[in-house]
Order: sequence, then structure tokens, then C-alpha cells
Amino acid sequence: MPRGPSLTAEWVCLLRALERSRPEPQRILDDPLAVRFLRPSLRLVLRGLAAPTTRRLLPGELGYLPTGLFADFVAARHRYIDDALVAAVGSGIRQVVLLGAGYDTRAWRFAAILGDRPVWELDFPPTQARKRRILAQQRDLRQDRVRFVPVDFANEDFAERLVAAGFERGHRTLFIWEGVSMYLDEGTVAHTLRVLHALGGPGSVAVADYWHAPLGHPAWVTAQRFGARLFGAIGEPLRFQLDRVRAEAFLARHGFHLDERVGSKSLAARYGQGRRLLYAPLFLTHATAV
Ligand SMILES: C[S@@+](CC[C@H](N)C(=O)[O-])C[C@H]1O[C@@H](n2cnc3c(N)ncnc32)[C@H](O)[C@@H]1O
Repeated sequence: MPRGPSLTAEWVCLLRALERSRPEPQRILDDPLAVRFLRPSLRLVLRGLAAPTTRRLLPGELGYLPTGLFADFVAARHRYIDDALVAAVGSGIRQVVLLGAGYDTRAWRFAAILGDRPVWELDFPPTQARKRRILAQQRDLRQDRVRFVPVDFANEDFAERLVAAGFERGHRTLFIWEGVSMYLDEGTVAHTLRVLHALGGPGSVAVADYWHAPLGHPAWVTAQRFGARLFGAIGEPLRFQLDRVRAEAFLARHGFHLDERVGSKSLAARYGQGRRLLYAPLFLTHATAV
């Protein structure tokens, strides 16, 4: 990790904010709070990408390049987890933990649905500190919606800290692990899953996404190589890949039953309204602790 706050957390936040520049019926996701977490330079990028002139210069979907395909995936990934949260609350989940939360705003966007269910956010300390500084300026957002636990997953154990912050062991929990596993090594990913299993117990749900080797056209391979270099250059190298066909066995080894595995095609079918481009070498899993 870099010494400062995660840049990738801000980038995906930018892509969520960008989704708002689409006409409402075309949006995959509606996160009105995302823009508040962007630094001035990224707000300028957002304005540039969302400007009607940019759209006119580049036809149709290309109007959203260079964020392009990945932007759609990020929006759809977030929407999938939004839907999973609503379903989990409906099925009796009692608490929610976001691991590597970044600038996630679900605790506020879903305040009415979450009711008095507690929400914890775990994150790399500098990322979390930046989020808290920005949050402290948002008078209209209840500050006590989230309990914050700073942690470096690669070097620290978070179970005791979470319990010290009020987490109830054995209460059915929704764990959200979005856009994080790829930055950790395999041992840390496996250990984290085991800890989640032990913390939440049977019936708890973990929704996560994983990076895999790109398939198909060589353009994807080149794009992924370029992406991997870029992430490395900003101090957030991609470390862990999970082959899609291995996902079920990998999760089972750590106590989770795979309920669903969702890749770009399924996301496009579900949220893309038949025409959005969604390719990214990532897939989501929805899994239940057994
Ligand atoms: C791409 S961002 C995703 C943020 C958020 N989940 C989202 O989807 O908007 C990656 C997140 O993982 C966190 N992260 C990466 N490595 C970490 C580590 N070793 N310990 C704690 N957090 C880490 C970063 O601080 C950042 O918030």
C-alpha cells in the first residue's frame, strides 16, 4: 500500500460519481454522495468526462472513455452489492462489515433499510483517516452511522479490534469485500475468509470480487497488463488472482458455500439494459458461511 490514502479508492469513487451524469433511466447506480470524496483535480476530471461536449465529440458509449469498460463494471459491481445488502437485510442479517471500505456510502444511502443494524468500516488507516476528515465536514450525514476500525489486513489481525468496537460474534453478518482481495497476497485473502467465517458464524454472507486472468481478445490482455503496471506505479500492485473455476473450491476450503458467481456477462445482462459495455477481468461471488 502507498503511505497515503488509497488512490484506487478515489478512482472507483469517481466512476460511481460519473454514473450520475447519465440520464436517470440509464443509470446502473445512483450514489449522490460519491462526489463529496473527490479531491479538486478529480472533480475536474469528472466534469470533463461528464460534459456534453465530451459526449458529442465521442459517439455513444465512447463518450465515457477513457474510463470506458471498467467504469461500467465498477458501477455494476457496486449495484450488485447494493442489491445483495437489501436482500441480506430481508433475510435476517443483523450487522454489516465493510472491509477495505474506501469511500463507500452505503451506511447513509441505505440508512432507512439498515435501521439500527450496526455498520463497521475497516480500512487502511490513511484511507480511513481521509474519509473521516471529509465526513466530519458533511453536516447532513449522521456521523454515528459507521463504527470505524483502522487496520492493515496484510500485517494486522482485525478480529479482536472489530469485537472491541462492538461487533457481536456469531450474529449473522453481511461482509462486503469490494475491490480489495486483488491487493492482498493469497495467504492474507485465505486468512481473512477464515476470520470472517469464525466471526459471523453460519448463515453469514460474504460478497467479494476477485481478479482473474483476462480471457479472449488479446486487447484485454494488453489492457490488463497496462492496468496492472499502473496500479503498481501508484503503490497499489495487484497481487492475488483467482481463476473463476477455482472460486467454489477456494471459498469452500475457508468455510463458505458459493451461492452465486457473477462475471461481466451476467452483470451486463442484469444491469446493462442490453447495451452497456461491462468487461473487466473481475468476477463477484456471493457466498454463505456454513
Ligand atoms: C479499490 S479500493 C476499494 C474501496 C471500496 N471497497 C470501494 O469499492 O469503493 C481498495 C481499498 O482497499 C483498501 N486496502 C488495500 N489494501 C489494504 C490493506 N492491506 N489493509 C487495509 N485496507 C487495504 C484501500 O485502502 C482501499 O480502501
